[in-house]
Amino acid sequence: MPQKIILDVDPGHDDAIAILLAQGNPEIELAAITSVAGNQVLEKTTYNAMRVATLVGATNIPIARGAEFPLVREQITDGSVDAGSVHGVTGLDGPELPEPSMELDPRSAAQLIIDLVMAGEPGEYTLVPTGPLTNLALAMRLEPRIVGRVKEVVHMGGGYTIGNATAAAEFNVLADAEAAAAVYAADWTVTMVGLDLTHQAIATPEVRDRIRAIGTDLSRVVDEWLDFFGAGYESVWKMPYPPIHDACAVARVIAPEVVHSEEAWIAVETKGQWTYGETVTDFTGTGGQPFNNLAATKLDFDAFWDLIVDAIKRLSA
Ligand code: BDR
Ligand code: CA
Repeated sequence: MPQKIILDVDPGHDDAIAILLAQGNPEIELAAITSVAGNQVLEKTTYNAMRVATLVGATNIPIARGAEFPLVREQITDGSVDAGSVHGVTGLDGPELPEPSMELDPRSAAQLIIDLVMAGEPGEYTLVPTGPLTNLALAMRLEPRIVGRVKEVVHMGGGYTIGNATAAAEFNVLADAEAAAAVYAADWTVTMVGLDLTHQAIATPEVRDRIRAIGTDLSRVVDEWLDFFGAGYESVWKMPYPPIHDACAVARVIAPEVVHSEEAWIAVETKGQWTYGETVTDFTGTGGQPFNNLAATKLDFDAFWDLIVDAIKRLSA
């Protein structure tokens, strides 16, 4: 039986590839998509989620609009951390995309998550957020019983040695640190697929060649996304090739061995002057706290890109 997931996204080039992977892999049933403000304002991320869903044929599932602002903090708009610089003014600059072929679900993202999880069997759904955690925090506050019914939460965010929005914090966690603190502290397992892992998932020239060689309209769209995203990574972070962060979270659900993870105590710092939004991670128990979550550490690079290439081929057929 394929694993049912609810993908909570802020597309975003790597969110778009995460949607593509979820739709194009037979081990996963993409049950719903929810949007959140993050890489761009909510109106744009929602529109992008619908356009990408249309592109990959995820047209008969509910897509719901989520939170417009973080729970407590101001929305990040400062140019130095605004992901607009790597994702562009639309949030998904680059190739032309189809207009949405579906209507939005009338429910909020949080309500849709609650309705699906509560109607399903315990353990039926895995939540895969690849943006700020506002929707998940709202859902678990509105209906605390979802915490015990979700199989697990696999989040692209955080990191245990580096940040990318500040020296200490990764963008998705920093963008709604209070929401992230609540989600990581709740009584479910969060697998943190953070920067230490996702910076291994880079689109190298060899990978780009493999994608181009597929030679379909969809592979050309992905190639152009990687052009735009890659240029941003080079200019903002001086990284020669872009890391495809968000698809790593989906890959973890498809094949846990591809995204190796280890037990850890993980908590989100919300008070530090320099460390606000840091995902404090203890693999050894040094701090005396019991392990509460998992941290992704090691990517099987070839197997990861095989999954992406296979999904593009399957969706192109
Ligand atoms: C995360 O931030 C966003 O820009 C990406 O979509 C990804 O989810 C990486 O820090
Ligand atoms: Ca994202």
